Formats: sequence, structure tokens, C-alpha cells
Amino acid sequence: MPTRKKIGLIGAGNIGGELARLVANKELGDVVLFDIPAKESFAKGKALDLEQNGSILGYDARIKGSSNWEDLRGADVLVVTAGIPRKPGQSRDDLVATNLPIIRDVANNAKKHCPDAFVIVISNPLDAMVYEYKRVTGCDKSRIVGMAGVLDSARFQLFLAREANVSVKDVRAMVLGGHGDDMVPVLSMTTINGVPVTTMIAKDKLHAMVERTRKGGGEIVGLMGTSAYYAPATAAVAMAEAYLLDQKRLLPCAAYLDGEYGYKDLFMGVPVIIGGGGVEKIIDIPLTDEEKGMLAKSAQSVQGIVDVVKKS
Ligand code: NAD
Ligand code: LAC
Repeated sequence: MPTRKKIGLIGAGNIGGELARLVANKELGDVVLFDIPAKESFAKGKALDLEQNGSILGYDARIKGSSNWEDLRGADVLVVTAGIPRKPGQSRDDLVATNLPIIRDVANNAKKHCPDAFVIVISNPLDAMVYEYKRVTGCDKSRIVGMAGVLDSARFQLFLAREANVSVKDVRAMVLGGHGDDMVPVLSMTTINGVPVTTMIAKDKLHAMVERTRKGGGEIVGLMGTSAYYAPATAAVAMAEAYLLDQKRLLPCAAYLDGEYGYKDLFMGVPVIIGGGGVEKIIDIPLTDEEKGMLAKSAQSVQGIVDVVKKS
């Protein structure tokens, strides 16, 4: 008798709540909305509200608020948002002092209670946090991925769609590299339903949108005083769904590089296939010399913050 999947959401904050709502509404499985003991009531209240939401929308997903790792035993998927978001004027790297001990706490507990889960890390600084999570748990590189590229690509796709006055449904873009201000929108492979975007949008406008994408997180932090959470949650759920339903999605995600693109022992945004086996394959795409240079610069930034983590 097949049982319902168990999806653990580590962090019941802004992204965590939206993750729970999306997972439940898609009936991907039952949800454990997990937070620290001081926030357990908050998590329980959010879970109850979301279950009541289900009796209107018609989803039967069980949603449980908890601060007890025992409730996460046997989880099929973990999505990790534990940690603080940025405030205006902060970079993602500024979060490392606070979020590093948090990710180590989560990784150590997950290793004990749900070692077989497919893990999607969202917490920032993303590339360093997913690296540290893998280092602490020792999990296989296929069982862990960072969410950034799907979000950053969605931002770029939106800007392109508005500029070209076309539907977002038809814009295909890939943003690779680290989840930082030198991320790499791959213009050479960006199309509007197969039509190269360079034939539809002037070069100066394209570069303005590349820059806006790179600063996309900070733009929202400046407006809201905290990070985005709707699009980040939707991006992570697309990745979780690809795993749970074995969809073989080709998505830009922070994956562990072991020589791919010329990088080793580093997490960075690359095109991956996500299916029932987790990160099933890293896809090697042709980059222009300019894009390779941008990727190298981004990799240097990622290595810099990972070196800080290694020394902490
Ligand atoms: P939030 O403050 O709303 O929620 C974070 C939650 O984590 C809080 O409820 C907090 O109590 C909880 N928490 C702290 N320590 C914990 C622990 N040890 N175990 C379990 N829970 C713990 O923040 P948010 O807006 O949901 O953002 C969460 C993280 O995601 C931030 O680091 C933010 O920078 C990051 N983020 C990443 C991306 C991306 O593209 N990768 C996008 C947006 C936000
Ligand atoms: C932020 C997310 C997008 O920090 O990483 O805004």
C-alpha cells in the first residue's frame, strides 16, 4: 500500500510557509513545518491555518508544525530555509556568521533523523550553505542541491518578457554560477520560443536586464525590508516535484561540481537533470569565452565565501 510522501520544511518563516502551501496544494505529500522550539507555536499555528486552507481548496495533505526532529524521521525530501534573510544594504555573504551555525545544526540533526532525504537548500549565502550541509552530512552529491538558478532565471525571464512584450511562457533563459552579484545569465542560450533574444532586444537593454537580474534579490530586499519568498518557494517546489515525480527536469541548480566546467569541490549553478535519482546528471553546455570568464569570476566569489566557511 503506497504511503504518502513526507516533506520536511526546515524553517517555518516566509519561504517555509509558502513552501508548505504550494506542496500541500499540489498534494506532493504530507508536510512537517519545522522550526526552533521558541517558534514551535508559530509553526503549529501556520500549519493549522494551512490545513484549514485545504478544506477550502480541497487538498488533504496533513501539515504538522513541530520543533521535534523525531517528526522528521523518514522524510523523503527536506527543504532548508533555516536562517536569517538579508536586510537592506546587506549582501548574502553578510549572513554567513549567523547562518553557518544554523546550517550545521540542521545538517547534524538531519544526518541522524532523515539521512535518506533528498535535500534542497535555500538558506543564504546559498552556495556556501549547501556546501557546508553536504560536508557535515557526508551525503552523496546526487542527494543534495541548492535552489538559486531557477529563481534567478525566473527573474531574468520576467524582465525579458516585459521588454519584448511577450508571454513569460515563451521566454527560456538560464542563469548559472554563484547566487551572488556576479551570477551568469547565459545570453547565448536565451530564446523566446526558440528565437534568439539578441535578435529581439537591443544589446544595451539586454545588459541592463542582466545587471537587474544580478541585483534582483537586493531590489526586493530594498523594497520589502526582507528577502523575496513567493518566487523562491515556487522555484524550490519545482525542484522537489521533479524529484518526487521523477520528471527528469533540466533546471539551473547549485550542484556539487567534481570536475564539471573545470571546477572541483564546489557548489555552483549549472544545468542539471533532476529526477527520481536526485541530481541525476550535470549537463555540459557550450559557453562563449565571455560567459566562461563570467563563470570563472563567479566561481572565485563562491570559493571566497566557502573558504570563510572552511576556516569557521
Ligand atoms: P525567515 O526569517 O522568514 O524564516 C527563517 C526561519 O528559520 C525562521 O522562522 C527561524 O526561526 C528558522 N530557523 C532559524 N534557525 C533554525 C534552526 N536551527 N532550525 C530550524 N529553523 C530555524 O526567512 P526567509 O525569508 O524564509 O528566508 C530564509 C533563508 O532563505 C534566508 O537565509 C534567506 O536569505 C534565504 N533565501 C534564499 C534564496 C535563494 O535564492 N537561495 C531566496 C530567498 C531567500
Ligand atoms: C536574497 C535572495 C534572493 O537574498 O537570495 O534576496
